[in-house]
Amino acid sequence: MARIIVITSGKGGVGKTTTSASFAAGLALRGHKTVVIDFDVGLRNLDLIMGCERRVVYDIINVINNESSLNQSLIKDKHCDNLYILPASQTRDKDALTLEGVERVINELAKDFEYIVCDSPAGIEKGALTALYFADEAIVVTNPEVASVRDSDRILGLLASKSRRAIENLEPIREHLLVTRYAPERVEKGEMLSVNDVKEILRIPFIGVVPESQAVLQASNSGTPVIHVNGADASDAYKDVVARFLGEDRPHRFLDVQKVGLLKRLFGG
Ligand SMILES: Nc1ncnc2c1ncn2[C@@H]1O[C@H](COP(=O)(O)OP(=O)(O)OP(=O)(O)O)[C@@H](O)[C@H]1O
Ligand SMILES: [Mg+2]
Repeated sequence: MARIIVITSGKGGVGKTTTSASFAAGLALRGHKTVVIDFDVGLRNLDLIMGCERRVVYDIINVINNESSLNQSLIKDKHCDNLYILPASQTRDKDALTLEGVERVINELAKDFEYIVCDSPAGIEKGALTALYFADEAIVVTNPEVASVRDSDRILGLLASKSRRAIENLEPIREHLLVTRYAPERVEKGEMLSVNDVKEILRIPFIGVVPESQAVLQASNSGTPVIHVNGADASDAYKDVVARFLGEDRPHRFLDVQKVGLLKRLFGG
């Protein structure tokens, strides 16, 4: 049985697409056949971050409208085996992304893939609801600031009331809290909420933090999910998240300010 995972947040710009790309790539690196679907019709960012934007010919709405087959629309990832991307449409009407259409696409994908990762658009309306509807698991991406935490809380309400699992009275969606763009030095200065604050408010299982990192933007600009940037903190953080998702017990990192040693302070580096 394929597992369907939505990457969701409520608030915009918190790191959903960054996480979708690296999380899906991480599952593929671990040998799991994975597809990542861009639900952000109109913006279409995922293919840019995955570096396949020039290869997009058909998208999910073509599949839904029977204008292309799934096979014609899936793009094989160029960084790793086992990974495919189903892009969103940039130009089409968002209403074309119907629940019936998405269900058909997901059912067909489920025959072939172990994991189906859904990159949700921002907001708490139709687009976000469509992305979360079929989910078995949800990674709730939250930045350590009040507005983001509040919107994540709203999303938790929707997962528990508007998803297929809620409506059909099935076992609830498994939720995971991922805190991204975390900067412990700003937490120490009182400029950001701490991970403990966020955990306290949302009270769902915590899967990790991704530190604020310049490597993320650089990687995105070059069309490479940051998980592939060896040595970058954000890459290690995403690898940990994938391992924990797969059931491994990994100690949490990147929670505290890195103490810079005397030599490093004197001589840089
Ligand atoms: N850990 C990080 N460190 C630094 N910058 C980050 C990090 N994660 C994401 N960003 C940056 O934040 C911005 C928003 O990221 P992203 O597009 O992944 O968010 P999103 O939640 O998908 O946005 P939207 O709601 O518009 O879909 C991007 O410029 C990205 O490079
Ligand atoms: Mg996005």
